Amino acid sequence: VILSNFNHKELLFKFLIIGDYGVGKTAIVRRYTEGKFSSNYKITIGADFAIKTLDWDPHTKINLQLWDIAGHERFGYMTRVYYKYAVAAALVFDISRVATFQSVKKWLSDLREKVTLQDGSNIPIVLLANKCDIHHAAIPTEQIIKFCKENKIGKWFVTSAKENMNIGRESGVNFDRLEHNP
Ligand code: GTP
Ligand code: MG
Repeated sequence: VILSNFNHKELLFKFLIIGDYGVGKTAIVRRYTEGKFSSNYKITIGADFAIKTLDWDPHTKINLQLWDIAGHERFGYMTRVYYKYAVAAALVFDISRVATFQSVKKWLSDLREKVTLQDGSNIPIVLLANKCDIHHAAIPTEQIIKFCKENKIGKWFVTSAKENMNIGRESGVNFDRLEHNP
């Protein structure tokens, strides 16, 4: 709680967006926070930040602090610093590039090794199969479902930052109502 009075509460949550380079993390954040998309690829160096404010209920405002981590960071030593105090994460891969799905496992273990909630439990993770507008899904749905089951990922969605599919509350996904891992 960062601010509270008789009938109003304001909460701040740190939310990570991770996954290989070029999968669309920055595009997803931009679509979610600004409603825009660009097809130019501008690589993220280190981490970018954005805030999404949600009116949760008439008495509660939620500020989601989105940490958009550079895909190349997996090879760096900074992720531990970036992950600190995060309470949830979106792990993104590109549905048209198998290698980015294979990397999901590495991102997942990096994350689970380096960040937990205060009570020691894993942070909730949503898996996003992005670029579903490219009609060439290289990874079968069953494989994604199996992976989620085996790795205790509670939720996954196919998304498109380009076509605005499953990005915001408007388009279906509740980034703001993440379920905890089973
Ligand atoms: P790093 O910053 O290097 O980690 O990459 P990133 O994951 O932030 O990727 P970024 O959002 O910059 O997107 C990479 C490229 O994919 C850009 O050219 C985007 O325009 C494109 N892209 C992102 N999302 C989509 C999508 O949903 N569909 C399509 N067709 N292209 C997308
Ligand atoms: Mg980026």
